[in-house]
Amino acid sequence: MEVYECVQTRRTVRNFKPDPLPEDLVFRIVQAGRWAPSSSNSQPWHFIVVQNRDTLTALGEIASQGRFIAQAPLAIAIVMDKATRPQLDAGRAIQQMELVAWSQGVGTCFVGVRAEDQQREIKELLGIPAEMELITLLPFGYRAEGDTGRGTPRKPMSEIAHRERFGQAYARR
Ligand SMILES: Cc1cc2nc3c(=O)[nH]c(=O)nc-3n(C[C@H](O)[C@H](O)[C@H](O)COP(=O)(O)O)c2cc1C
Repeated sequence: MEVYECVQTRRTVRNFKPDPLPEDLVFRIVQAGRWAPSSSNSQPWHFIVVQNRDTLTALGEIASQGRFIAQAPLAIAIVMDKATRPQLDAGRAIQQMELVAWSQGVGTCFVGVRAEDQQREIKELLGIPAEMELITLLPFGYRAEGDTGRGTPRKPMSEIAHRERFGQAYARR
């Protein structure tokens, strides 16, 4: 899939088929994270690839904003270690992983796990050192039949893009 089409068509997926992903695609998704740019090339990330069914079920029980992790054949925990700009660096890696997955027909959803008890329980389950920062869990899988997503319209270009100076619409459409 061409990059522009991939960016334009990508949508969050929250209902997954149980079908496993080919191992070489799982590897490519992790590589996409590894190749992401980071502040001063610090590469402050760890990616924990989870495919064990019991662990996925347990993650779905802990993550109240992402119960559907339990259905997915794969989840990747994004963990940052001594990062100066963890959200930015993680965001770059996550988006690359999402797009590589989507280009192969595989969807994901950013699952927020900021609550203290969730952080503690997930760190314990996955053996993540306490001082590291767990950013998100990303479940990956093929979209379940009949799942059309939530419908996520975007603001019009005229509202968010400016030409030369703030307030002068870049485009009307
Ligand atoms: C930082 C961030 C946090 C998010 N947290 C959650 C979440 O906890 N649970 C969830 O179902 N979706 C979550 N989402 C997905 C957004 O709701 C989704 O990306 C947005 O509605 C746009 O839809 P789209 O991705 O289909 O274009 C999150 C997205 C981002 C970027």
